[in-house]
Amino acid sequence: MTTTIALAGKGGVGKTTFAALLIKYLIESGAGSILAIDADPSANLNLALGLPLEQTIGDIREGMLENINKVDGSLNGRPGLSKFDYLDMEIEYALSEGEQVDLLAMGRPEGPGCYCAVNHILRDIVDRLGRSYDFVVIDNEAGLEHLSRRTTRDVDVLYVITDPTVRGVVAAGRVAELRNELDINIAQAWLVVNRVTGELSPALTQAIAGLNIPLAGTIPADAAVTAADADGRPLVELGPESTIYRSVQAIVQKTLVENAHTI
Ligand SMILES: Nc1ncnc2c1ncn2[C@@H]1O[C@H](COP(=O)(O)OP(=O)(O)O)[C@@H](O)[C@H]1O
Ligand SMILES: [Mg+2]
Repeated sequence: MTTTIALAGKGGVGKTTFAALLIKYLIESGAGSILAIDADPSANLNLALGLPLEQTIGDIREGMLENINKVDGSLNGRPGLSKFDYLDMEIEYALSEGEQVDLLAMGRPEGPGCYCAVNHILRDIVDRLGRSYDFVVIDNEAGLEHLSRRTTRDVDVLYVITDPTVRGVVAAGRVAELRNELDINIAQAWLVVNRVTGELSPALTQAIAGLNIPLAGTIPADAAVTAADADGRPLVELGPESTIYRSVQAIVQKTLVENAHTI
């Protein structure tokens, strides 16, 4: 059984940071194999994980359209090669393989012209691929609606990340409410408040209590992350004493381990 974990929240709130540290924890606890999917068009999860990234799914889609013979419709000059087989092969090559984690980046979204059929095939291939891992972690772009375009798989755990502001928390609550309108099922959604300095203010605590998703935990603002990102160092290299990593561990313990997701 694959456990699917997804991240949501406004741009810049810390989705990729959380995804990288969550993956670090899954690796260190020997939880099993992990497929990381970077679904943000400005792919940068690879940097946080310290993995190379050569081709995105977007590049593969564009490449295929360029390789279709305009006369006989063949691909790569091979008349028998189906689009499915071509894309399946290319995705296999594009997989960036780490020790326990493989990474796929979705890349830029479809350009002008309708690639719907191709996108369906791509989604099926990525979904099928995901089934061979113990965990699929999807670092999503801002809106939840993108998630259902990227995957048909149900999500076991959704983390909605927010900054420590009332406006941010209210926006996160709206994101969480949208989950009922999607055609994929999200079993559990949790709120994570990132970049907290000191105690949460009473107003913020009240705003959080008014939401219909529970608080998984808070993550402090951590200069070590800023420094690592400034130097382009992967976040997975943060040491065990790192305060941000310890908070992510506590959140994962509470939300995954205690909820019987095998880890
Ligand atoms: N807890 C934190 N402490 C300090 N800096 C943080 C923290 N969380 C995120 N950042 C910084 O904020 C910026 C945006 O984070 P990122 O994870 O890329 O956001 P998102 O993926 O949601 O767009 C990055 O430069 C990152 O270093
Ligand atoms: Mg990001």
